[in-house]
Amino acid sequence: MKKKQLIIINGPNLNLLGTREPDIYGKASFEDYFKTLQEKFPHYDLHYYQSNIEGELIDKLHEVGFDFDGIIFNAAAYTHTSVGLGDAVKAITTPVIEVHISNVHAREDFRHKSFIAPNAKGIIAGFGLQSYDLAIASFE
Ligand code: DQA
Repeated sequence: MKKKQLIIINGPNLNLLGTREPDIYGKASFEDYFKTLQEKFPHYDLHYYQSNIEGELIDKLHEVGFDFDGIIFNAAAYTHTSVGLGDAVKAITTPVIEVHISNVHAREDFRHKSFIAPNAKGIIAGFGLQSYDLAIASFE
């Protein structure tokens, strides 16, 4: 049987995980964590994409958003600002799980707004990198 195709898409500044504000985002790099996810979920075909550029994130959502089985999306700061990314999530058919490492609702007010959430299947926030783990588990 064909494995389910899932992709983790990370937005701006998440390429710096491990060195960026480690008190909030932890000390692990995403590349290392991604390897542990692939080992933990061998029955899924797990992909990973990161970009700091809004349009590239929109292009990736269009590319995978009609064929893949699930998208785990941390739009990072664009979550709170991007009508374009919100529209892209609405335009595609693959279910999107919105993920955040930190609990955005326990932080500054501007992080409480999400342009992704109205069209997401669900939201997971505040569990550190384990938020991604929980999002993948939601496809079981
Ligand atoms: C984040 C939360 C956002 O508010 C922030 O801009 C990020 C990361 C998180 O994963 O906790 O870059 O999406």
